[in-house]
Amino acid sequence: MTIAHEELVSFAREILVRLRVPEAKADLVARSLVASNLRGVDSHGLQLLPYYVEQILLENIRAGADGKVISESGGCVLFDGEQAFGQHVAAQCCDHAARLAGVHGLGMVVARESNHYGAAAFWSQRIADAGYLGLTACNASALVAPWQGKEARFGTNPISLALPGPELWLLDMATTTVALNKVLNASLSGKETIPAGWAMDAEGVPTTDTATALKGLLMPLGGYKGSGLAMMVEILCAVLSGGAMSTELGGVYNRTKPMRTSQMFLAIDVKRFLPLDEFVERMRWLVEKVKSSAPAYGFDEVMVAGDPEWRAREKRLAEGIPLSEGAWKNLCETAARLNVPLPPPAS
Ligand SMILES: NC(=O)c1ccc[n+]([C@@H]2O[C@H](COP(=O)([O-])OP(=O)(O)OC[C@H]3O[C@@H](n4cnc5c(N)ncnc54)[C@H](O)[C@@H]3O)[C@@H](O)[C@H]2O)c1
Repeated sequence: MTIAHEELVSFAREILVRLRVPEAKADLVARSLVASNLRGVDSHGLQLLPYYVEQILLENIRAGADGKVISESGGCVLFDGEQAFGQHVAAQCCDHAARLAGVHGLGMVVARESNHYGAAAFWSQRIADAGYLGLTACNASALVAPWQGKEARFGTNPISLALPGPELWLLDMATTTVALNKVLNASLSGKETIPAGWAMDAEGVPTTDTATALKGLLMPLGGYKGSGLAMMVEILCAVLSGGAMSTELGGVYNRTKPMRTSQMFLAIDVKRFLPLDEFVERMRWLVEKVKSSAPAYGFDEVMVAGDPEWRAREKRLAEGIPLSEGAWKNLCETAARLNVPLPPPAS
């Protein structure tokens, strides 16, 4: 099923509105999820909506909550998400970070008691759109064993950095080899195997079997270095905010307890270091230098972070967003339950 992105936004918004989510929040959540599909990152797109619906019904996501600033001092804000929508918390935190960077050169906001905020790039990009270098990270439900362990202690703890100015480079990555939702996506698309290096079975033995991986653990990115990065995210988000850590978190697929994720947002005013034009020119030079490396055997080009997603976005804006059979089936069931008409297929 392929559907135009605006149709998908209206569809997702309507599902949330039927659950009495205020229109503006429903729109933000719908847009953030569909933006991920547009970028080709289907793992964090609309396939999450049925799980968000469950979390709203369980009141693990408190649709009516807004969150609040606990303290503000210099360029620093501590925020209580009050288990509101992660997207609603993240939007406010990004805007606080940008405001503070305008005044102090740097603005950093850490939020606790938040919820799943989708793809991290949506938030680093929001800070970049306000004119600042935007960095964000969050902790997530424990699904990853620390290096040399076989019991989960870390989440997939993503990190994203976005640049102000033209689209030259945008990093958005889990600190595991891949995000959990990529394994879930493989399962929803009926793929029996996943690439080597993505996951381990419950005993800590590497596996390429999708079903075994879903019952097992994700692999930290690059062995112990990924464990280190995941811990760094945990420190910047959860230790610093006083929020839930490691196994204390619930998760978007967890029905037994609220997610309680912590998130970090940093805005940096480039102009405090060099003029924005010069920054952009230097970035252009660097990106061209990186891309000028001769491609290795088996490849015909060198890309930088952001390239695959911008290409996907161009194609999907023109052709619509393809949804896997499994994701579409779950969305249809959710829509039927809430009496929401299905969107038309892209023409
Ligand atoms: N909210 C959460 O709890 C949570 C947790 C984990 C991950 N996520 C999200 O999951 C999504 C997917 O994460 P991922 O780690 O699987 O992403 P990924 O591995 O597909 O991409 C990671 C980064 O590598 C870049 N990249 C990909 N191919 C490249 C190439 N050939 N050359 C140069 N750069 C390349 C991408 O542009 C991207 O910036 C992200 O949006 C992330 O924020 C969210």
